[in-house]
Amino acid sequence: MYVNILYPENERKLFTDREDVLRKLNHALSDVKKGAFRGFVILGVRRCGKTMILKHFLFELLSDSSVIPIYVDFEGMPRDFNIMLDRLIGWIIFWIRTRGIGDPVEYGSPSILIRKLGRDDALLDSVLRFISLTDLDLKFRSILSIINSLDKPVVFILDEIQDFLITAQEAKIDVLGIMREMLRSKTLLVLSGSIRSIMYKVSMDSKERYFLQLETIEIQPFGLKDTWELTEKILGENISGATAAKILRLTGGFPFYIYVITNRARELSELYQIGFDEALDIAYLQETYSSSGIIYEHCRYLWSEYLGYARRKRYLRSILEDLITGPKKISEIAKNVGIDYNTVYIYMEELEKLGIVKRDNNTYYIFNPVFARWIAIRKELPEILRIHPEDKGIITQLKKLEKRVSRAERIASHTFEMLTQRIIAELLGTTIEAGKLGETKLNKVKIPDKIIFNPTIKKENKIYEVDAILENDQRWVVEITLSKIDRKYIQETKNVWKADIYWFITYQGYTKTAKNNIENNEILTDKKQLEKLLKGI
Ligand SMILES: Nc1ncnc2c1ncn2[C@@H]1O[C@H](COP(=O)(O)OP(=O)(O)OP(=O)(O)O)[C@@H](O)[C@H]1O
Ligand SMILES: [Mg+2]
Repeated sequence: MYVNILYPENERKLFTDREDVLRKLNHALSDVKKGAFRGFVILGVRRCGKTMILKHFLFELLSDSSVIPIYVDFEGMPRDFNIMLDRLIGWIIFWIRTRGIGDPVEYGSPSILIRKLGRDDALLDSVLRFISLTDLDLKFRSILSIINSLDKPVVFILDEIQDFLITAQEAKIDVLGIMREMLRSKTLLVLSGSIRSIMYKVSMDSKERYFLQLETIEIQPFGLKDTWELTEKILGENISGATAAKILRLTGGFPFYIYVITNRARELSELYQIGFDEALDIAYLQETYSSSGIIYEHCRYLWSEYLGYARRKRYLRSILEDLITGPKKISEIAKNVGIDYNTVYIYMEELEKLGIVKRDNNTYYIFNPVFARWIAIRKELPEILRIHPEDKGIITQLKKLEKRVSRAERIASHTFEMLTQRIIAELLGTTIEAGKLGETKLNKVKIPDKIIFNPTIKKENKIYEVDAILENDQRWVVEITLSKIDRKYIQETKNVWKADIYWFITYQGYTKTAKNNIENNEILTDKKQLEKLLKGI
């Protein structure tokens, strides 16, 4: 069965989270079933997990016989618009007729299709008409009219669509415009691609052309909970909070990196008889800094390929190298690099479109810390083909360089939650002087070793949520927030949640009254105290 090749069971077993995206797609599907058109653009750098989500969504659809799923991946198709259209019609008919169960090779080209479809098959006429047309615009339209002629709602997923868009543009065919014109009802259109500048244009264009009918979804990195879950799925066994926190630190929550270093660490720990945590460090260094490493290859790809797409190059390197040391405002970069504000502004706009740089308020940062460290360290290293666990010299040197680079890790609002989760996970099960955690009247405390993420509770018909509950002999309620907290905030949380200890961690700090009236079972931690804690572990 083709679907099992497309999305094999071992891959399915590893699928983690993405509940928010799946919920959005499913919600849109219910509109489509009522006759509406809904569309999405899925954005994200190479290997961030776009296809995994699409395949998972598709797989769920297979058991719903009231919809017709169609999945087309343009990656690797010949860059010839005519051939792409032949393939497209083939894939569409393959999904309509077999729901992904048949052999797609038998649907590879229109001439094979004619033989494949029975004489009384209604789709035969559509294929014959397609073959008879020579005008590329009309050919594409005739393919879409097949979708429109179906009596069931259709989920039409086009993956790596940038390759199709580029080729269509070269052939002077406005595929997006034609889709807008023709797909108007009972269709869920999902466009996904990894060259953000092109996909970004699609989503911007669609704002005008589809009149806001295409919603953009940007794929986010994993937090602690998902990192922990995915690692346990890969290993098939439980790991400690400290190990999960370490993996989150080493990967920035990028699922592909989690997969790569967890697998490598397992192998190393078996081969060299070393503990898993030590193996993780080596696996990370190997994969990221040796030229045979998979993460190295990915970073090199992003660096060369994406920067190849950048229209302005002169200051690109110096700007990125300046950003490595932490999030910055345009004025800071301008000062450090020695160019004017407006020039930096134009560069940042472009880097953001490429997806390599992100913006939080007016502060810019590199999308993933591993990539940032790779840019920084790559400059200072000779090419290393392989790193063996016995190469103590190179490992020590790399660790030193890493430390220097990550020392610059400042807690910014966009990293606050992730860093907080990491710190909590590293502290699980330890006994510590409570004063080290923050403002408190408590002395020595044992931090429970079990963590439940985002628990909810229903009270008087309202649903409440906290960030975490820590449990074993004691029960701790942990609230993480960007906003400033006062006595009222604390009291409200305590009214809703029963616990032995309440731990509030806040980015903007707490009011004087909150601190002066602190009760025996409370801990208040602000950003500064958190930064101190981070240095300690
Ligand atoms: N939700 C997830 N659960 C588990 N693993 C994931 C998830 N998302 C991504 N991964 C891991 O990352 C890898 C890359 O994901 P995927 O192929 O979906 O990325 P992509 O964005 O489609 O990449 P490309 O741009 O290269 O097509 C997967 O093979 C898998 O190992
Ligand atoms: Mg993909």
